[in-house]
Amino acid sequence: MDGNGRWAKQKGMVRAFGHENGTKSVRQTVEACAEIGIKHLTLYAFSTENWKRPKLEVDTLMKLLVSSLKKEINTLLDNNIKLNAIGNLSSLPKKVYKELQEVIELTKENTHMDLTLALSYGSREELLNAVKEISTKVKNNIISTESIDESVLNAHLYTQSLPDVDLLIRTSGEQRISNFLLWQIAYAELYFTPVLWPDFTKQHLSDAIIEYQKRERRFGKTSEQIS
Ligand code: IPE
Ligand code: MG
Repeated sequence: MDGNGRWAKQKGMVRAFGHENGTKSVRQTVEACAEIGIKHLTLYAFSTENWKRPKLEVDTLMKLLVSSLKKEINTLLDNNIKLNAIGNLSSLPKKVYKELQEVIELTKENTHMDLTLALSYGSREELLNAVKEISTKVKNNIISTESIDESVLNAHLYTQSLPDVDLLIRTSGEQRISNFLLWQIAYAELYFTPVLWPDFTKQHLSDAIIEYQKRERRFGKTSEQIS
């Protein structure tokens, strides 16, 4: 979800105004995904690198997170959506952590869609943690080096309960990954749109999915093997 700051600047407003308006796109996207029948939606809300932003902006984003969680709990319950979070959650302010855990608890029996918020998330940090945990297990003879395969690594990631990414959408015209799910997007289809996040609507999501449906996913095989 990129482009909140630029959206606000274009309107002669402060960056916080862009973040506030970005929450409308979050709601639209979550509702649209639930309507279409998407099973897993992961939103990159705050990266490990975003902590380097000015304190005022970080504080604004954290406050917005708490108020959005409070406001959207009914949307999640009405749509049978289960909330989950990935990232270094212990680095979040106590208030955010508490609110997050409350909503996770309240929605844990929901089954229609998984909504995962990536918060204080960095893929390199996630991979480093996995490497440390696995090497500790090897050292303590819990697993052998030979048994380490993709499923072992997967099981040590924050995303252990999620499938690989099918479609990755980045808004605002930037064409980079920015430390998001590096392992999990190995065969994801990438979709970049110039639309700034606060302008992103259900129609834009639909455009992205239609484009995705036109792609031929070969996973290294030939076209003939797929058909
Ligand atoms: C995305 O918008 C929101 C977060 C990263 C939290 P930005 O804040 O990155 O907006 P730009 O890139 O400055 O326009
Ligand atoms: Mg940005």
